[in-house]
Amino acid sequence: MRNRTLKLALSACSLLLFACSQAPSGDPTPAADARLLGAASEPGSWLTHGGSYAEQRFSTLSSIDEGNVAELGLAWSFDLQTERGVEATPLVADGVMYVSAPFSIVHALDAATGELRWTYDPNSDRSWSRNVCCGFVNRGVALYGDKIYVGTLDGRLVAVERASGSLVWEVSTVEGDRPYSITGAPRVVEGKVIIGNAGADFGVRGYVSAYDAETGELAWRTYTVPGNPADGFESPAMERAAETWTGEWWVAGGGGTAWDGMAYDPELRLLYVGTGNGAPSVRWLRSPDGGDNLYLASILALDPATGEIVWHYQENPAESWDYTATQPLLLADLEIDGRQRKVILHAPKNGFFFVIDRSDGSFISAEPFTTVTWALRYDENGRPVENPEADYRDEPKFIRPSPYGGHSWPPMSFHPGTGLVYFPKRDMGSIFASDPDWEYRPKTWNTGLDTAAFSEFSFSDGGPMSAALVAWDPVAQREVWSVDHVTGFNGGTLSTAGGLVFQGSSDGRFVAYRATDGEKLWESPTGTGVMAGPVTYTVAGEQYVAVAAGWGASFAMNGGQLALAAGVRGGGRVLTFKLGGRAQVPPGKAPLGPVPEPTYALESTEEEREQGMALYHFYCSVCHGPQAVAGGSVPDLRHLTEENHALFDAIVRGGLRQVQGMPAFADLLSTADIHAIQAWILGRARESVGGV
Ligand code: HEC
Repeated sequence: MRNRTLKLALSACSLLLFACSQAPSGDPTPAADARLLGAASEPGSWLTHGGSYAEQRFSTLSSIDEGNVAELGLAWSFDLQTERGVEATPLVADGVMYVSAPFSIVHALDAATGELRWTYDPNSDRSWSRNVCCGFVNRGVALYGDKIYVGTLDGRLVAVERASGSLVWEVSTVEGDRPYSITGAPRVVEGKVIIGNAGADFGVRGYVSAYDAETGELAWRTYTVPGNPADGFESPAMERAAETWTGEWWVAGGGGTAWDGMAYDPELRLLYVGTGNGAPSVRWLRSPDGGDNLYLASILALDPATGEIVWHYQENPAESWDYTATQPLLLADLEIDGRQRKVILHAPKNGFFFVIDRSDGSFISAEPFTTVTWALRYDENGRPVENPEADYRDEPKFIRPSPYGGHSWPPMSFHPGTGLVYFPKRDMGSIFASDPDWEYRPKTWNTGLDTAAFSEFSFSDGGPMSAALVAWDPVAQREVWSVDHVTGFNGGTLSTAGGLVFQGSSDGRFVAYRATDGEKLWESPTGTGVMAGPVTYTVAGEQYVAVAAGWGASFAMNGGQLALAAGVRGGGRVLTFKLGGRAQVPPGKAPLGPVPEPTYALESTEEEREQGMALYHFYCSVCHGPQAVAGGSVPDLRHLTEENHALFDAIVRGGLRQVQGMPAFADLLSTADIHAIQAWILGRARESVGGV
């Protein structure tokens, strides 16, 4: 019944473009749903995270094109007032832009001028910053009817009024006292707000939740991994999944968190969700007697009405390298081997580009888009043939891709005209070492990976690293063109009917490329590194291109010297361009420069400093960088002033800077531990004097 209603709404959309923005009276599809279903035919707006339910991030707008893009200039900028990572895709509707900043703070801006309409701060619990692997980031909001939805860092889902930013409802998505967080953008499908969580690295059980968009009432929750069989299974899917796990996996939660990619096919009535790595990440610690560990590192197709798992495709059975399948899911209809196929296109961390039949999850193809050493290939059933050399059970191994992935969350776009998919790739490996003494410890890292291995290792020692924007042909499964980047983490892409691909870069540029061959046609400085995906829209008939810029999070925090190579600092801002724009891009902060001689005096023994190094790499390096080399966003502790050294214990144990995102560690670290960490940092500063 519902199915038919939606199909009718769809055909109304395609026949009568504007029928979608205002549902005629008597149409059983609510106007808010009809508007989202018709997003692709309302190119003046950017209504959903991926531009439409298919998440293609392609716009039919063409006022800005190959011929005139050189005249693009800044129309306005808006200071997001943060030095931390910015990952949000802005939404635009009815002349207003909605963009989220770190700690899930939402701003509504006049889309033509950048003037602030309202700000909503959900007051995320700042102590929660310790519970996220990769920064206090937020990848965007959802829009539906008269409301805006945002997930908060501390795991709440919030609805505010579009007009005023005032709170309508909020719910906690967190189960028990586990460290669940939200960094991803919600999607609204069939009147329900869909959200997954982050947290697998800290030991949680993944799930996807759907809430009634009007009331916030939980409609369904679908777990991505089984719980303790003694508690009974929530569904037959969980019972089947449990057969693929061994040992007491539920103690650490199992993982499989769905922290980013989602898409929806209204005709098939399937909601697609990508799931993450295991908790712990290391397969023999998680499920000691083997098994595929469903549904880790999988694409799940869910019935949006009930949350039931309709099909699954597991990209990494028994995942063991942090190769999440949470990366953006993009839906397209392609002719493959003479047959028209409805597919999902996916470039997850594991370095293979996947083409999957989205009607039933059957495997079509997977080919590497970057250097891959963990697997040799995928067989015809869609199962990876793992490389025996990638088994790090008995000794540390250098494996590609690294846990940053060949490609992570920066959104990709698909241009129906060129048939190409555009995304930032990375060719980089890292050491993988298993921690033989790992056991589940609540509220701390539970990856099972030996962080000490990282302490002795700078990524650049592990062979060459490179990064590029690639244009990928998903039918032929090959790269058509690529443009090299300076270093690791570069922006998502937008492609347009103007024949353009827009992308920001880690080294602080926003660039327009020709979609067919990658020729650079225009660029602007951005004053900070760009990671997020750009959008385009119109106000009063004039086309704008906007991107939220701001260096920070994962690689920018813990990529060490490789991240420093970007030569940028944090400094979040929204930059919006139009033809003939004359505004000035606000300058960025200058890189820190050489490490000064530390003047602070602290007695310590060699043994204490060694202990300090291990503690630092377990608790601090994720944000402050390996070997205390920070990547340009959070403070580089080798530069710590005498004043801050004197406050070290108050900052680190006492939470003096918690509001700014420096968590308190009084519950985990003793005064002696802090002393050891500080002594080691001072030693690193002395070793580094004059260098970067
Ligand atoms: C979740 C990320 C995160 C972790 C983990 C973290 N920090 Fe921080 N830290 C920050 C941020 C962000 C700031 C900057 C806060 C501000 O803007 O004042 C900071 C600031 C600091 C400062 C003050 C620096 C200055 O120049 O003002 C010190 C000292 C510090 N951290 C030490 C540590 C130590 C030691 C650890 C490990 C026990 C640690 N941090 C773990 C994020 C983190």
